[in-house]
Amino acid sequence: GRAMDRMEVTETFAGISLPGHLHTQESLGFAVTFPFRPTDVVIATYPKSGTTWMQEILTLLFSRGDVLPAKTIPNWERAPWLEQIYFREALQDTAARRLITTHLPARVLAPALQQSKAKVIYVARNPKDVAVSFYHFHRLAKFLPDPGSFDTFLTRFIEGTVHYGSWFDHVKGWLAQRQLLDIFYVTYEELHQDLRGTAQRLSAFLGCPLGPETLAALEQHCSFATMRDNAMVNYSLIPAEIMDHSQGCFMRKGVVGDWRDHFSPLQNALFNRLYQEEMGDLELPARWPM
Ligand code: A3P
Repeated sequence: GRAMDRMEVTETFAGISLPGHLHTQESLGFAVTFPFRPTDVVIATYPKSGTTWMQEILTLLFSRGDVLPAKTIPNWERAPWLEQIYFREALQDTAARRLITTHLPARVLAPALQQSKAKVIYVARNPKDVAVSFYHFHRLAKFLPDPGSFDTFLTRFIEGTVHYGSWFDHVKGWLAQRQLLDIFYVTYEELHQDLRGTAQRLSAFLGCPLGPETLAALEQHCSFATMRDNAMVNYSLIPAEIMDHSQGCFMRKGVVGDWRDHFSPLQNALFNRLYQEEMGDLELPARWPM
């Protein structure tokens, strides 16, 4: 099909650009002064790092394996985005335990979190796979700029001028909160390698132990195949003007290492050099093959 028009609105906040379709200065201000509750659980990610996957895992964890909420309520209502314009009421009205999602960098959100006892789950993914996934997502998400070629997009990703800013700053910023927040770091790759074991560690962190049957239900429901077919998480409910479904699926591949099919040897060498400069010997929760 013919590619649809872009919604060319950009909001700039704290030095990063964000889709203006989803954010205003007001919605961003609401986020940075948000009164977190001790019972809040915040999923923090750079885009395309496994956000939706973690939303689903936590839904199943807190429902103790009951699939009904995951099958009947869209993910953005179960775990609303703190900084986006649509969710203020959903966040304020509920008396229940809140699951909250954010893509904001730690430097803007950490002050509000540090004043609370909210728990944070940070999901990181191999930045090469993030770049590939983000590139494909730009092609269908009409609220993001036209990515151009993969090479053009990768250059902007490396410079940190893509929407949501630099991957390196995002990951380093949230890693620096280790001593200051009650935070659980996990990688997409760990989820991929051992979903059940990782869910078990998560449940211990959240003080919500799960039995073997619940873990089995969680593992089944949070598989890529099941999530790809679940309209409550696969974004097929989003109108075509916002996500052009003819350009691809949100649940695209769900694999580790797809970058090998996208990066040229030169792009890879440049990226590795930059990664070493930016990340050095920083201790990450899991290493990814670069
Ligand atoms: P790909 O584009 O590489 O397929 P986010 O939710 O942060 O936007 O991340 C989206 C990425 O997570 C997409 O990656 C998507 O396919 C992948 N994903 C979502 N659910 C998944 C699952 N259950 N297992 C593996 N990958 C999953």
